Amino acid sequence: MVEHAISDGLNKPDAALEMTLRPSLFSEFTGQAKVKERLEIGVAAARQRGEALDHILLNGPPGLGKTTLANILAKAMGANLKSTSGPTIEKAGDLAGLLTNLEEGDVLFIDEIHRLQKTIEEYLYPAMEDFKLDIIIDQGPNARSVRLNLPRFTLIGATTRSGLLTAPLLTRFAVRERLDYYNAEQLQTIIVRSARLLNVEIDEAGAHEIARRSRGTPRIANNLLRRVRDYAQVRHDGRITVIVADKALAMLEIDENGLDEMDKRILETIIVKFGGGPVGVSSLSVAVGEEPDTLEEVYEPYLIMEGYLNRTPQGRVATELSYKKLGLKMANGKQASLL
Ligand SMILES: Nc1ncnc2c1ncn2[C@@H]1O[C@H](COP(=O)(O)OP(=O)(O)OP(=O)(O)O)[C@@H](O)[C@H]1O
Ligand SMILES: [Mg+2]
Repeated sequence: MVEHAISDGLNKPDAALEMTLRPSLFSEFTGQAKVKERLEIGVAAARQRGEALDHILLNGPPGLGKTTLANILAKAMGANLKSTSGPTIEKAGDLAGLLTNLEEGDVLFIDEIHRLQKTIEEYLYPAMEDFKLDIIIDQGPNARSVRLNLPRFTLIGATTRSGLLTAPLLTRFAVRERLDYYNAEQLQTIIVRSARLLNVEIDEAGAHEIARRSRGTPRIANNLLRRVRDYAQVRHDGRITVIVADKALAMLEIDENGLDEMDKRILETIIVKFGGGPVGVSSLSVAVGEEPDTLEEVYEPYLIMEGYLNRTPQGRVATELSYKKLGLKMANGKQASLL
């Protein structure tokens, strides 16, 4: 639907933009202070010992900086980064090709690692643990297994759904980090930096307005900045002030609180179809047409953090804030009605 396309597109990566704006050093990476400190210590220690980094799993909703951190880590180690993703590794041979081409200390980045096929995953276990790869050569009666030695490499896995990873894979990552949504101040810092790189004039209040409507997500913040810039250029003098930002965001139908179409659909469904809840994730998933894991790991964390939703043992419950947001009244019989 065209109506959805506007906001659905805001958390879509734009390759060219991300190249320009992606920080390449820890010092340029805003927020996630604890994660950053632990990773920086890991890098410093590995460098002192002259070893490869331990395998690292980065987990968290889209657009929070997983790919960015993988790049920063490789660069800080002075290592090559080879990138691939779970769904593109179709055969065990694809993985074998990647692994046998690595050099000592290289970083292999596997994005969407939860989408790796289970049969392929099994080849990863000895590779990660013992830096060995067992491959079968030949077919039929001549088939035999050959064990190859691999260089000491670092696997960095990224996932938006760590819940889908199998226990054996999870436990082979010595370091597991979860990225959280950014607060408005941190996003403001990111926006000001991006504006400088894009040569856009923006004042503090303008940056703050975009920041607080970016759903806690740097990628959305950068995408909104670019759209607000267009508006500022065409309708004003190019400078982004709070008034310009607000007008532009209203035109883009960005919610006052930055909620997107799916966020609103989820809240509305809980309230209107399920009387405010509690509703189980599987029923909710069918009703809104989104996978349960995506609901749980991409949408709900933000809605819960912002106080729109509670997760109870009986299921999801909409809070008063959700009713207010949708302009619905919380009725005694829990049946929602228009105000
Ligand atoms: N901490 C940060 N500081 C500054 N910019 C950031 C930060 N995190 C992310 N960004 C910006 O947001 C963009 C998206 O981040 P990134 O691609 O790393 O997200 P991701 O977690 O890998 O998302 P996905 O799950 O969709 O792959 C980056 O290009 C970068 O410009
Ligand atoms: Mg990524």
